[in-house]
Amino acid sequence: MQGPVPGFSSHQHGLDCDGQPVEAIARSAGTPVHIYSRALIAARYHEFTAAFGTYPHRLHYAIKANATLAIVRTLRGLGAHADANSGGEIDVALRAGFAPDQIVFTGVGKTRDELERAVSLGLAAINAESPGEVSRIAAIAGAQGRIARVALRINPDVDAGSHPHISTGAAVTKFGVAAADARAMARDMQARNELHLVGLHVHIGSQVTKAEPLARAAQVIADLSREFRDDGHRLEHLDVGGGLGIAYQPDQQVLTPAEYAAAILPVIQATGLDLVLEPGRWIVGPAGILAATVVDLKAQPGGRWFVIVDAGMTDLLRPALYGAWHTIEAVNPRPGAMITADVVGPVCETSDTLGAARQLPPVEVGDVIAIRDTGAYGAVMASNYNRRPAAAEVLVDNGGWHVIRRRQTVADILQWDT
Ligand code: LLP
Repeated sequence: MQGPVPGFSSHQHGLDCDGQPVEAIARSAGTPVHIYSRALIAARYHEFTAAFGTYPHRLHYAIKANATLAIVRTLRGLGAHADANSGGEIDVALRAGFAPDQIVFTGVGKTRDELERAVSLGLAAINAESPGEVSRIAAIAGAQGRIARVALRINPDVDAGSHPHISTGAAVTKFGVAAADARAMARDMQARNELHLVGLHVHIGSQVTKAEPLARAAQVIADLSREFRDDGHRLEHLDVGGGLGIAYQPDQQVLTPAEYAAAILPVIQATGLDLVLEPGRWIVGPAGILAATVVDLKAQPGGRWFVIVDAGMTDLLRPALYGAWHTIEAVNPRPGAMITADVVGPVCETSDTLGAARQLPPVEVGDVIAIRDTGAYGAVMASNYNRRPAAAEVLVDNGGWHVIRRRQTVADILQWDT
C-alpha cells in the first residue's frame, strides 16, 4: 500500500511535516527549532537496510549525526545497532536501550577512562586506531580479566573526494593504521590472549557522492581479511564505516543506497564475512529542518537584502565551517517578486551566514523560514557561543508532534559556572 510521501512538503497552506504545518509548530514551540520527521527516518532506515538484502549485515547508526535521545531510540526501535564515537555517545546508546553488544566504538584518541568502560561493557567491537591503543586495550582487558573484541581501523589511503575537513581516508589524515602495517600488528595481537580481533574497519569520509572510493576502501579491507584468515585470525565482520552523501541541492548527483550496495556488496560477499555499516547522515539528514524567525531586514547596496533570523552558526555550523549549502525557503511564501538575500544569524561573525545570495519570496519580520536537511550534524554541532542557548527539538510522529529536547535556557548554561 502506497501512503503519502513521508517528510517535508509544500502545500497551499505552506510547508508541512507529515501533515503538521511547520509554521504552527514554530509558533508554538518557539524558534529556532529543529523539526524531525519520524516517518522519514523510518523510511530511510528501511531503504538503506533493504539495499543489502539478505546478506548478513548490521546497520550501526552513527550517533554523532544526531544524538538526541528520542532520535537514537527511534533508530533502535527500527532495528538499528549503534556506532559511538566517545564515552558520551556510548552513554547515549545505553540510555537509548542498546545492549553493549550492539555498540561499536570508533574514534581517534580514546581516553583511558573510555577504553576501560568500553572493555568492561563488552562492546561488539572497539575499532582501534593505533598500535598504542591496541596495547592499552590489551593491558586494560588483562587487568579486568576479560577478552576485548577489537577491530582494526585501516587507513586505506583513498581520497573520498569530499570536503577536506571531512575526508578521513587519505594517508596524511590522523585516522587508522596503514594497510601495510596491519598484518604485523594483527600478528602481535594474536600473541595476546586478552584480545580477539573480530574485524577490520574503514571509514574514508562523510558526504561521499561517488561509489568508486567507497568500493576501493572496501576492497582494501576485504583483501587484508584474506591475509588475516591465512594467519589464523577468527574474523567475524568487515565494517565499511559510513559516509553515504545526500543531495543538499536539488540537482546534486548522489548515490542511492542500492547503488552503494551494488558497489560494495560483491567485494564483501566474496569474503563471506558479515557486513557492518555505520551510516549517519543518509538516514537522518533529510529528515530534519531548522525553523527560524525573521527578526530584521536590511537593504544592501545593489538591491540585495540581509534577512536576519534568530538561528545562526550556533544552531547550524555547517555553512560557516564547510561553506556547506542548505536550501532555505519561506515556510508560507508571500506573493510577489523574488528577492536576493543573504540569510544571516545574529552571531557577531561574518561567517554567521546560513545562505548567501539566495532567491526568496518577499519576507517580513516575524515570518518563519526553514533551512532544509539539517537532521544530521545540525543540533549535535551546536554551541553556546555568544551565550546562545541550544534550540528546541521536535519530533513529528503519529499525526502529532512533541518536544524531544526542550530549549536550553541561559540558566542551564550558567549552572556550569562558579
Ligand atoms: N563512522 C565513522 C567512523 C565516522 O567517523 C563517521 C562520521 C560516520 C561513521 C558517519 O558518517 P556519515 O554516514 O554520517 O557520513 N560534521 C560533518 C560530518 C563529520 C562526519 C564525521 N564522521 C558535516 O557536518 O558534514
